Amino acid sequence: MHTNEFTRRSLILSGAMLGVGLLSSCSRTEPSPLNSPSVPKPSEPADLHARPQGDLYGIDMYNTQAVADELVYIDGNVRPFDGEAKRVLITGSTAGAGQLAAAYLSKRGHAVVAHARNAQRAADVRRDLPALEGVVIGDLRNLDQTRALAEQINALGKFDVIIHNAAEYRLSGPELLNSNSLSPYLLTALVTPPQQLSYLSSNQQLSGGLKLDEIRSGGGISYPDSKLHMAMIATAVARLRPDSQVNAVNPGWIPTWMALQDGPYSRDDLRAGYMTQVWLAEGVEPGSDVTGQYLFHQEIETRINDLLHDENAQDQLLAAYAEQTGVILN
Ligand SMILES: NC(=O)c1ccc[n+]([C@@H]2O[C@H](COP(=O)([O-])OP(=O)(O)OC[C@H]3O[C@@H](n4cnc5c(N)ncnc54)[C@H](OP(=O)(O)O)[C@@H]3O)[C@@H](O)[C@H]2O)c1
Repeated sequence: MHTNEFTRRSLILSGAMLGVGLLSSCSRTEPSPLNSPSVPKPSEPADLHARPQGDLYGIDMYNTQAVADELVYIDGNVRPFDGEAKRVLITGSTAGAGQLAAAYLSKRGHAVVAHARNAQRAADVRRDLPALEGVVIGDLRNLDQTRALAEQINALGKFDVIIHNAAEYRLSGPELLNSNSLSPYLLTALVTPPQQLSYLSSNQQLSGGLKLDEIRSGGGISYPDSKLHMAMIATAVARLRPDSQVNAVNPGWIPTWMALQDGPYSRDDLRAGYMTQVWLAEGVEPGSDVTGQYLFHQEIETRINDLLHDENAQDQLLAAYAEQTGVILN
């Protein structure tokens, strides 16, 4: 472990002192069995004198200044991992938390494949993160593109880790269903299973519902529904694939482009918002072998929707997905 690290205590405190947000709240719980030292983390704030030039990191186009500053920080400070390098795929890694996890894991020496919605965004992320192993392309609002994306991913061979990070916020209900719910299901079912899967959820899962009729009819769902669905795909797959490590992760209400859609109010720690995914992917710290859980800042979160661990509800959700897509997940 590096000496220049956040301690886990400081990481948790930085979250615990902050307030409740709309996209996700900072709901700290009592320490769980996941008491462990932190994964290597940078300890210094971003060097604000080394801000990116030109369009690099897409400030005010697809990233906030905070995300761009963190990308600069990662580039200048993260050191190679001394364990076994992993092959990692991250959906929605052209911006925000997904791009930060991709940048961090690349700098650590892992082979990271990013995912972009189209060729322009693929070019952007290749410019932003030149160490990437590759970029796959597909707009998750379009299920034909999601199916084609699964083929692209399978053509690259098996991954050790897949992070289902992509999601959108202000979309119509049917588009949200495709982008945030049916697409992660389809990718999970169609892509060669990796050893580890993580699904980005949100504290808004608390007010989400199953919406089985809407899934079957291709009707509209809400963002909270979609974040419950992503978390329930995680708990269902953890049960169906006991040899895999599968978790849902709440990054907190962090200052990404998505959060800006509700104004500049995000309250949680940006670095902590992507480090749980990194901690799981590297899998070397005690506690990072957790599975079947909903995590917030490397801890098991207890404030969760009752449906999350309801096996009957999980089966109903998977059955509705299978009916709508014609694809069975096993
Ligand atoms: N920010 C928060 O406060 C917060 C809170 C709770 C949960 N989350 C969750 O954390 C995850 C990451 O969010 P973020 O805040 O980093 O958001 P972000 O900055 O908006 O980044 C989202 C990423 O997903 C991609 N994406 C979205 N829809 C896509 C689609 N239809 N097809 C292909 N790619 C798509 C985006 O591509 P483009 O760059 O091309 O748009 C971008 O790379 C999401 O699952 C989100 O729900 C975020």
